Amino acid sequence: MTAMQNVSLGSHYAVHLSAPDDFAFWRERARGLIQCDVPPDRVSWIEPGGTGDLFAAEGPARGEKRLPPPPADPRPVRASQRFLTIARSAALHSDPARFGLLYRVLWRLQSNPRLMEDKADTEVRRLEEFAKSVRRDAHKMHAFVRFREVEEEDGTPHFVAWFEPDHHIVRAEAAFFMRRFANMRWSILTPRGSIHWDGETMREGPPARREDAPQGDPVEALWRSYYASIFNPARLKVGAMLSEMPKKYWKNLPEAELIPQLIAGAQAREAAMVAAGARAERARPGTLTEVAQGAAACRDCPIAECGTRAVAGEGAPGAHLMIVGEQPGDQEDLAGRPFVGPAGQLLDDYLARAGIDRGAAYVTNAVKHFKFTWKGKHRLHQSPGAKEIDTCRWWLEAERAIVQPRIVLALGASAARGLLGRTVSVNQARGAPIMLDDGAELWVTVHPSYLLRLDGAAREQQAALFAQDLARVRERFAERVG
Ligand code: URA
Repeated sequence: MTAMQNVSLGSHYAVHLSAPDDFAFWRERARGLIQCDVPPDRVSWIEPGGTGDLFAAEGPARGEKRLPPPPADPRPVRASQRFLTIARSAALHSDPARFGLLYRVLWRLQSNPRLMEDKADTEVRRLEEFAKSVRRDAHKMHAFVRFREVEEEDGTPHFVAWFEPDHHIVRAEAAFFMRRFANMRWSILTPRGSIHWDGETMREGPPARREDAPQGDPVEALWRSYYASIFNPARLKVGAMLSEMPKKYWKNLPEAELIPQLIAGAQAREAAMVAAGARAERARPGTLTEVAQGAAACRDCPIAECGTRAVAGEGAPGAHLMIVGEQPGDQEDLAGRPFVGPAGQLLDDYLARAGIDRGAAYVTNAVKHFKFTWKGKHRLHQSPGAKEIDTCRWWLEAERAIVQPRIVLALGASAARGLLGRTVSVNQARGAPIMLDDGAELWVTVHPSYLLRLDGAAREQQAALFAQDLARVRERFAERVG
């Protein structure tokens, strides 16, 4: 009597798996059953200790009927590469029916080798869905495992993470974490079992509880700042984000507490990014007229909505001296010309005393629009912020590239920042030149409106220093330009 006849008499086989993720064991048993021609409805596939027990003790279960010996001339078992790839993942699914399904598809493959290509077949589709769900779970584990540092008794750091997988993926994914964190000592605890790496060997452990893992430590601050820095507001799609990072994982992720505020700030940040992107694509103006037109149309920062107009620089394109103020004031905004109000008049006065011809200089501002706040009927000057100055640098840099002055005079800290891209202290910077990237000398002094706000001895003292600074610039101008 052949093995096939033996089975056809009605034997039923219960195959007890040694572990719920043991694909190799299933494969070996399935081959034997196919070779003995045991149809799927005569086999039960039984997991150890139920679906949650990854590391239950192995061993034959009571009542298992021994498989018949394979026939002397076993026929080859057909399994396409596609089936094996999908089966390897699907075997890790948490559905207890997976091994039975795998065997049914393998059984049918023997008479229909192209079965896996049949997209309409419900069993093939189910298998593919299982595999997909397992791959997705693995992806989540790669992305959302967060280690907390604990110190061992011998003082060495040990990184421990808690993760709740949907499927039996922990052992299969151990190699990924081993490669990524090869030099660290770490453990990943899960309700389906644990894995521990000491830098050399991998050890498996029993299922764990959330309380077994440490909560919160300084490593989290790193994750939080990393996440905030990589968060791309322009790509924010709340629905997609929730499906990619389901709320279930949030409690383990230190960066998750940032999500609501990042979502809230996303629109503003996106607008800034769009502006920066547009600017990167915008051609740098080649003439002062283009600068004036470009600044007038510019909406890269909120100040652009203030005031009447952008106030362009004024002066000869080839001027050897460039004078840079902060931003137009009330009168400049109305007149459309820089330094025509009270601060401008004071500046003219001191320039003349120092022997500097304003008419031969190019005069402009770090920020081209007037930033103000209403007080009754009056528009009160407000200083631009660093961000606004930095945004407007695009125009100031363009002006400097066109005019190519040998000496640049910055009036106040905002002007200095506009020219340098960083904040300097006027008192520390004044009295000595700072070399700019194109070889021009930058001289920094106070803004004339500062003198207007002082009186008495303080004003006299500051006015003298201001005059001294301008005299130095005049001297240097004579040395460099003639
Ligand atoms: N203050 C400045 O900084 N610039 C002007 O044009 C006028 C006042």
